[in-house]
Amino acid sequence: MKRLVLVALLVLVVAFSGVAAAQVRVGVAMPTQSLQRWNQDGANMKAMLEEAGYVVDLQYANNNVALQVSQIENMILNGADILVIASIDGSSLGTVLELAKEEGIVVIAYDRLIMETDAVSYYATFDNYMVGTIQGQYLVDRLGLETLEGTVNIELVAGSPDDNNARYFYQGAFDVIEPYINAGKVRIPSGQIKFEEVATPTWASEVAQARMDNLIAANYSDGTPLHAVLCSNDSTALGVTNALINAGFEADNWPIITGQDCDIANVKNMIAGRQAMSVFKDTRTLAANVVKMIQAIVNGEEVPVNDTETYFNGVYTVPTYLSAPVFADINNYEELLIDSGYYTRDQLAN
Ligand code: BGC
Repeated sequence: MKRLVLVALLVLVVAFSGVAAAQVRVGVAMPTQSLQRWNQDGANMKAMLEEAGYVVDLQYANNNVALQVSQIENMILNGADILVIASIDGSSLGTVLELAKEEGIVVIAYDRLIMETDAVSYYATFDNYMVGTIQGQYLVDRLGLETLEGTVNIELVAGSPDDNNARYFYQGAFDVIEPYINAGKVRIPSGQIKFEEVATPTWASEVAQARMDNLIAANYSDGTPLHAVLCSNDSTALGVTNALINAGFEADNWPIITGQDCDIANVKNMIAGRQAMSVFKDTRTLAANVVKMIQAIVNGEEVPVNDTETYFNGVYTVPTYLSAPVFADINNYEELLIDSGYYTRDQLAN
């Protein structure tokens, strides 16, 4: 807090002396530019923070943990007052964040929780468990599991083991589907159910595609129907979609595929009937929430949080500002994504 207390004092002094507000430096560390969402997150954060008068250092780390650590080190050396970090590996930042703590820098975990350290002060994210329950419930509804007499076959594709969110997404979906597995209405022909078995390291489309290639060859090449694939996000859904196309699946035997992020490629697939749904997490909302948190920190006001019970990071339960995700499909995407100004109609043209 040392540095921030000084900044707050300076803000007060300049406010009273009529000089321009003292500039607070915010370092924004994003994981990668390879996924559309992080580019949007970074751009939104930078624009909103600059608009509010902050000096912003925005860095992307190419999904390389060592690079992210050195970017954060540099932000600290360059005098950051606040760090906003979407981690690559939530458990690898403890050491560099000790340095931040010594310098009195406030750290906000962005979207992904930072684990095993008390040097993170706040967490801003969408309700990760709810993302999963939305996906699971979508499958229950679309497959008519409540009233189904027979059995459907589904496969499960989760996210990256080093991302704390991935287990929440998967658990949320699994909790909704499990009763139907137990009731014999849902079969998983591959038998792969445990998070470790269905995880997709680095969330890479190619990794999801390679696994789906194998699942199809081993379980569906004899014509066994595949009714749905639960995919935790859009990058994994893209990989699964490619595998299905390569294996010759067509409109009449195309499975229901879930996703998350409403990336442009996936919304296009939704319009083309290749992906049933995605979970929409408006990155503008998340960025706006983080800016509100930063304003409160700088002004010495109470920081807005709405969950102080869920996100234990191995050391303590990090105060969290949760936003609600919503599902998007062919019926509501126009209202949700185009009318709200998130995308233009042209961006979604196939
Ligand atoms: C985010 C998802 C994203 C995934 C892959 C997760 O931590 O919450 O929105 O799809 O990472 O980048």
